[in-house]
Amino acid sequence: MADAIAAPGARPQGEDAPVVLALHAVRKSYGIGTPVETEVLHGIDLRLRRGEFCALIGPSGSGKSTLLNIIGLLDRPTSGTLEIEGTPTGGLDDAALTRLRGRSIGFVFQYHYLITAFSALENVMMPLLVERGRPDDAMRGKAASLLARVGLERWKDSRASHLSGGQQQRVAVARALAADPALVLADEPTGNLDTRAAEGVFELMRDVNRERGTTFLLVTHNMALASRCDRTIELVDGRIVAGGQPI
Ligand SMILES: Nc1ncnc2c1ncn2[C@@H]1O[C@H](COP(=O)(O)OP(=O)(O)O)[C@@H](O)[C@H]1O
Ligand SMILES: [Mg+2]
Repeated sequence: MADAIAAPGARPQGEDAPVVLALHAVRKSYGIGTPVETEVLHGIDLRLRRGEFCALIGPSGSGKSTLLNIIGLLDRPTSGTLEIEGTPTGGLDDAALTRLRGRSIGFVFQYHYLITAFSALENVMMPLLVERGRPDDAMRGKAASLLARVGLERWKDSRASHLSGGQQQRVAVARALAADPALVLADEPTGNLDTRAAEGVFELMRDVNRERGTTFLLVTHNMALASRCDRTIELVDGRIVAGGQPI
């Protein structure tokens, strides 16, 4: 619905914007049923609205990646509830979770996980291929326009392995956007880049957020970048200690 509205200013903002992600009392334990069972998330409440650009910060081992994996439907909470775009996920089987993930969530990781033998274009098409089966011109056109958006039009036929780290991460951002997700999860997306490339990838995500209203949740250790997000969520020892409510 809001997608039909072209002007960013016309989009519902703040409290009027739809809730893209809602977690309630989410707990996660590893090693259940073993002597080393440990709870690493201790009751997370979190809501993100459409268009929010959020940093997730916290010490190493505080549970950031665990939380991102749960939000990204790559792992299930031990207890508590998770809704993506209003859909409760608790009762969904793996196939339904995979469909919801493909439709609603894009991922950017610290290490881009591109298929290095494939071209930039083929990598960006991957999420669409997974969803629709075989490549067609519409898919190629979409991937090409996304590569143009991230500044890599000239490189679309280059093998991923021939691109620089910063360029590869731009391909990963384009790939994350291929299915027009409402939410992009980025786990230390600039952690492996030099300052200049990190700045470029951060600005790219920021611009995409403003242009499309895509919600971003970005794990970072870089406080300068975190301070440029709209909202900073801080996790310490598996608990949110700041930023849990939408601004
Ligand atoms: N698969 C796993 N099995 C057991 N413990 C895990 C697993 N993944 C993470 N942990 C533990 O959970 C805690 C949180 O880890 P993680 O979510 O990776 O934190 P962060 O991303 O903030 O560094 C750590 O103590 C880590 O050792
Ligand atoms: Mg981590």
